[in-house]
Amino acid sequence: MNPSDPVVAGSHRIHRPTDLSVDQINLASNDTFMRPDIEGIFEKLREEKPVSWHQHPDSGTQGFWSVVRFDDICTVNRDAATFSNQQGIQVLMENDQPRGGKGSLIEMDPPKHTRYRKIVSAAFAMPAVKKLEPIVRARVVKTLDAIGDRKEFDFVECYSTPIPLGLIYDLLGVPQEDHERILSLADKLFFSADPRHGGETTAMQAAGVELQAYGRALGERKRQAPGEDLMSALALAEVDGERLTIPEIGSFFGLLGGAGADTTRAALGWSMEALSMFDDQKRRWLENLDGLAPMAIEECLRWATPTMHMRRTATRDTEIAGQPVRAGDKVALWWVSGNRDASKFADPHRFDITRSPNQMMALGMAGPHFCLGAHLARVMLRVSLVELLRRYPNIRATGPARRLRSNFINGSYELPVTV
Ligand code: HEM
Repeated sequence: MNPSDPVVAGSHRIHRPTDLSVDQINLASNDTFMRPDIEGIFEKLREEKPVSWHQHPDSGTQGFWSVVRFDDICTVNRDAATFSNQQGIQVLMENDQPRGGKGSLIEMDPPKHTRYRKIVSAAFAMPAVKKLEPIVRARVVKTLDAIGDRKEFDFVECYSTPIPLGLIYDLLGVPQEDHERILSLADKLFFSADPRHGGETTAMQAAGVELQAYGRALGERKRQAPGEDLMSALALAEVDGERLTIPEIGSFFGLLGGAGADTTRAALGWSMEALSMFDDQKRRWLENLDGLAPMAIEECLRWATPTMHMRRTATRDTEIAGQPVRAGDKVALWWVSGNRDASKFADPHRFDITRSPNQMMALGMAGPHFCLGAHLARVMLRVSLVELLRRYPNIRATGPARRLRSNFINGSYELPVTV
């Protein structure tokens, strides 16, 4: 890695020590995540204050506890009875606010969650996803072909957006003519704290409501006239004689667009940036693209950690690593910090495509809400990156990725590349 390379100098994923004291750090503020020392900030908290309280208007009217060490995150994550999902999964949301995934699978607790997860899980299991691989590859090749003979382009616009967006909405059975509208809603839902999307949360709530309404209408249509798509499978799926209701299908749709498309887009963007900064890793991968792909994808996920946190809410007075927590307190599990915890990852700030072991937590950890789309996400990333490097072995970023102003999605939304 060359420190004078403009990509390295400007990247938000590179570790730089922070001058802030722990009391000056505020993970509730979206601006904190625009700082070049964000990785140093998490490191300082891991070392000096592993469970800390943060409050700022960007993250709603209430403050929240931040849990930043790998082991503490796992402990909270396993205990769904004490740490509930039902009141929302982002720190910036209050329970009574409308939101895209409100009432969906990710906002349910066991035993209801266990029942509903059973209804939808077959559609995301390995056998179903294996069948989708040719569709994924066809979309990737089509996207590469569309780039044509351009020598320079914006990776996010031309590659990391159209692939997951097109795929998720194709798989869900959204008609082509609605794709743009649905992505713009999903963008608002996750990116509204960014100035590009108005910088406030009202746009986010409105987008969530609209996405759910679209999902309900689509669910109705698929129940009447099912096709070969995921929304039809969800509309017809039954476990123990139980089906999802149309409002439940609507909120699941609201969840999937963001959960599937925005996360994969972010993962692809940060992976492309990392492959440019750590040229030795790219060269190594090029020697054995298919063989090293499974390991490389785990490292891309660790490096990118597209969903920076998931929130829980304490159901009773309890404690986390000795810190008392009261019933009703919000608790953020910072996957993005756990993924750089030196007690679990040797040389954590190095991008290493053959890292082993690599028990990264970008898709969650052993717990009820572990990413339902994990198989699909891995296939999309593997095929997208392998085919990209096969076609353009010399591709590299010419500037750093522009980072989204958000404390939830680790978004990369502009990345100039040359091939
Ligand atoms: C790189 C891509 C992705 C990342 C980083 C990611 C990350 C995550 C994370 C961190 C969670 C929460 C885990 C927890 O709280 O324990 C989650 C849950 C979920 N993800 Fe993903 N995800 C990705 C792709 C996808 C895709 C492609 C889909 C489906 C199309 C999807 C659907 C879901 C669903 C439905 C849940 C909620 C599961 C539940 O509550 O039981 N994700 N994901």
